[in-house]
Amino acid sequence: QRLTACTVVHTMGAYACQRKTPLEHHNTIFTDALLLLAENAELCANEGRNVAFKRAASVLKALPRPVRQMEDLQGLPCLGEHSQRVIKDILEHGGSSEVEMTRQSEKYQAMKALTGIFGVGVKTAERWYREGIQDLADLVTADLKLNREQQTGVKYYDHLNMPVTEAEARTIGQIVEKAVHALLPGAEITLTGGFRRGKKTGHDVDFLVTHPEEGREEGLLPKVMGWLEARDLLLYQKINKNSYLEAKEWPARPSSNMDRFERCFSVFKLECPWAASEKSNQSGESPSWKAVRVDIVVVPFSQLAFALLGWTGSQLFERDLRRWAAQEKGMSLNSHALYDTKRKQYLRASSEEEIFAHLGLEYIPPWERNA
Ligand code: CTP
Ligand code: MN
Ligand code: MN
Ligand code: MN
Repeated sequence: QRLTACTVVHTMGAYACQRKTPLEHHNTIFTDALLLLAENAELCANEGRNVAFKRAASVLKALPRPVRQMEDLQGLPCLGEHSQRVIKDILEHGGSSEVEMTRQSEKYQAMKALTGIFGVGVKTAERWYREGIQDLADLVTADLKLNREQQTGVKYYDHLNMPVTEAEARTIGQIVEKAVHALLPGAEITLTGGFRRGKKTGHDVDFLVTHPEEGREEGLLPKVMGWLEARDLLLYQKINKNSYLEAKEWPARPSSNMDRFERCFSVFKLECPWAASEKSNQSGESPSWKAVRVDIVVVPFSQLAFALLGWTGSQLFERDLRRWAAQEKGMSLNSHALYDTKRKQYLRASSEEEIFAHLGLEYIPPWERNA
């Protein structure tokens, strides 16, 4: 088959874990549109559509150049009819009317506002929306019974919807490290999630905590949270106990995304450095601190590589890693282990590189996992 001069043939794997996806790319006008449709599908609890649009956007993120004409899409995976129509509209009219209508829609805006509250998922938001609640003000007026997490979400709504900066993430890392080392010298703290992928901002800060002598990490988390609480550094905390040892369903049920590490979902009270010098300023208008969502996960050392891979993201990258393992390799991957279903054996790994090798994948560093 002959190619015209301007046709580029792409060889791109259909799984996000087969591609390098940098943070900055050349197709944001298309990916912003597709990701808005993905978000809307997620808010409508349409998981199939959500993933389809996310996959399409992800493929465009991995392209080395901007898409200028429909022919540029030839041979690319994961671009369904609907996604192609959106791209075509943008190429032809500079925008997509479907995307604009969705953005303006009352339901999209209400669901986005409500799920933007910490502790409120799609199901709860949907129920409230049907009762006529469309934003935070409506919710406060309705005076519904909220759980402790949601109360925190309402109370610190503005702060928690402000992006967390890299500098704030680093400061929190130092605080967590100080707490952990005061209680268990030799423990190791790793910044993970979006910041490990090189993002400059995030919706929260994610940490893994481990100790090279496995077992020493047991019982650490409540002490760490107590240490922070005693110093007035927390606004909210909820510890979920480790349930891995009791879990009998894995690897029989590897599809569950949720791992079973002991973890804490928390909200830190982060002192702002610029506010310290203004302590004498008693105008009392804005607080001298900022509420920041922090996730801390405690990991037994032998599972660290798997936990690191599982908590670095992106979400789509993780999803495709597990799908690749299951569909292409007959293996089952989660944040604890990798299991070869045919040989009926666990595959050990002490680094992410080894896990990629077990999976027959080229190693992709964290900053190229922004699928
Ligand atoms: N994760 C997980 N189990 C959870 C929550 C998150 O395994 N209960 C994983 C997600 O799949 C993701 C990583 O942990 O890979 C970080 O999750 P999250 O903080 O939600 O996303 P980020 O990629 O860090 O994005 P953001 O910057 O918005 O925080
Ligand atoms: Mn369609
Ligand atoms: Mn995060
Ligand atoms: Mn998180």
